[in-house]
Amino acid sequence: MHFTINGQSYDADVDIRTSVLDLCREHLGLTGSKKGCDHGQCGACTVLIDGRRVNSCLTLAVMHQDDEITTIEGLGQVGNLHPLQDAFVRHDGYQCGYCTPGQICSAVGMLDEVKKGWASHASGDLTDPKFDDAEISERMSGNICRCAAYPNIVDAIREVAGAEPAGRTADEKDEAMRNELKHGELAS
Ligand code: FES
Ligand code: FES
Repeated sequence: MHFTINGQSYDADVDIRTSVLDLCREHLGLTGSKKGCDHGQCGACTVLIDGRRVNSCLTLAVMHQDDEITTIEGLGQVGNLHPLQDAFVRHDGYQCGYCTPGQICSAVGMLDEVKKGWASHASGDLTDPKFDDAEISERMSGNICRCAAYPNIVDAIREVAGAEPAGRTADEKDEAMRNELKHGELAS
């Protein structure tokens, strides 16, 4: 079978029952995607297929020979991180890191879903979903973190989305702005 993963072509002679996750990890040496539960409950295996997030343990490789598959290895590399990878590092959005590749791939897909105006269970207005902490938590609920790094994961995603933290008052926003300016001045 022939596959396109992270923009590279791969030929693999695999059983038709092989999942995309096992194809990547066991046959192609792409071990960034993690196997947590192997039955669609944890999200550790999340990859992007044609830009949409998918649990790679639940989909067969044979179904995706004409698709563009992106794993965490394709999003960024050391020295050239994807903005979400960079934000996860700065916000300490992980502890053991096992869920992190899936969290980041899922967040990439999720941000695109919001941009396209797709509503979620947490959307107040189904025709114009606003991006806030409730949306992040709801939309990322398929990605479990056994280390419970959730607050920092939300911080990282919120920053990349350019959204405001939940419940911030106007005074708190002003204070945050002053701090950012101060840090900018100190850094320059
Ligand atoms: S390993 Fe795929 S959802 Fe858990
Ligand atoms: S950082 Fe350990 S499982 Fe999420």
